[in-house]
Amino acid sequence: ALLNTHISGDQVIVVSNREPYIHERTADGVIVKRPASGLVTAVEPVMRACSGTWVAHGSGSADRDVVDAHDRLPVPPGQDDYWLRRIWLTAEEEQGYYYGFANEGMWPLCHVAHVRPVFRESDWEAYKAVNQRFADAVVAEARSEDPLVLVQDYHFALLPAMVREKLPQATILTFWHIPWPNPESFGICPWRKEILDGMLGSTILGFHTRYHCKNFIETVDRYLEARIEHEHSTIAFREKETLVESYPISIEWPQEEAMRNWPSVEACRQRVTERLGLPQDLCLAVGVDRFDYTKGILERLNAVERLLEKWPQWIGRFVFVQVAAPTRSALEEYRSFQERIERVTARINERFSRPGYQPVHLLAAHHEPDAVNELFRAADMCVVTSLHDGMNLVSKEFVAARDDLQGVLILSRFAGAARELAEALIVNPYHVEETADALHRAASMPAAEQRERMASLRSTVRESNVFRWAGRMLLDAGRWRLRARIEARVR
Ligand code: F6P
Repeated sequence: ALLNTHISGDQVIVVSNREPYIHERTADGVIVKRPASGLVTAVEPVMRACSGTWVAHGSGSADRDVVDAHDRLPVPPGQDDYWLRRIWLTAEEEQGYYYGFANEGMWPLCHVAHVRPVFRESDWEAYKAVNQRFADAVVAEARSEDPLVLVQDYHFALLPAMVREKLPQATILTFWHIPWPNPESFGICPWRKEILDGMLGSTILGFHTRYHCKNFIETVDRYLEARIEHEHSTIAFREKETLVESYPISIEWPQEEAMRNWPSVEACRQRVTERLGLPQDLCLAVGVDRFDYTKGILERLNAVERLLEKWPQWIGRFVFVQVAAPTRSALEEYRSFQERIERVTARINERFSRPGYQPVHLLAAHHEPDAVNELFRAADMCVVTSLHDGMNLVSKEFVAARDDLQGVLILSRFAGAARELAEALIVNPYHVEETADALHRAASMPAAEQRERMASLRSTVRESNVFRWAGRMLLDAGRWRLRARIEARVR
């Protein structure tokens, strides 16, 4: 209701690379999958609440053959709250725009995670062309001169200016889901000016933290001739102003009724331990990530190894389960990362396994939300050790899953979430000793302390949920629109 007050009849169009529902053709017909994506976790409930159209890259195997220029289907399946318009990319477009420029260029550029960004002229050409294709789709979807366009992420840095050119009155809210680096780091990108220029087509440019806003403003200051008003956090460029603001993203807090239907913590524990063949009386730590080198999975495993070395009493009693959803596997960097993790897991298991006991279980497969929730409820702790992360929603999902007020969150200081979730055990994942100590502390934490910490974490996430994230952005956009209308009348 709050969101609809802010939107008040305006048309909403979301643009993202990842689609919220992937339709796959199988022998039994079409099945629908949810992708492993923080962006989708956050934006989907907002779209369900305010309807409109979501423009995204079609990634499933179903429907490719029936594609036409107006491919649209109502989603969520059976509920039909909003439209999904899929853009079907050719293999070359996907290679250059998604794997190439977005994930070999922008991703390591912005995360500064010691993987060198790769910039190829051909990827840049594909990135520009695909941004234009999506921008054209947004313009084609617009039913008025001033729709509200919600642009998601680093796949679409150029799209805001492209949409602005055709729809100068549009309100364009761009949210950057990953970190923004400092000007020196960003400066290595050969197309730094074009990227900044494209992003400044936005009315509002959102980042997770003030720190990333500051980095962005300093980057513009360094590379463009723009007027910056630090006081108001605005940038004037090409006779238009952009507000640069922080909006920490979050999750949808589960509905009371849904929570009542969850299997009990004991039942979850039993199912998980049975499935993995684990003893009942153990300390169960979990990690849930995409198989990505920014997530600190290697550092986490090193810390588990150190824990077992330093406190041998945990051998036989401490089990770490890592769910890692394969991602971007067409890239060599990702494939070799996965192999490295598999090797380290095997090494640790070789060192510390005993009859009936294996310390690390690596589940390299995508898990649907219910299975992840079951694992969170079964666990004694959740370990999030990103080397750099815009926000990290896994940490918030773990907190939301624990209505029993038990379970400890270990959280990297380099995840945006660490700014809000102060009652977690905050660690520097590069420091093996510190992370191992945190594992020990979490495994030994009295129930009363867990309860106190978890209650506080839960009230933070419940309050700062994804509707508040969207609401704050839309409220700022509403003010901005009103001001523009008044100024236009005065002129
Ligand atoms: O963090 C940026 C992001 O777009 C997230 O939304 C999501 O978790 C991840 O990257 C998804 O990556 P991909 O869509 O490439 O699988």
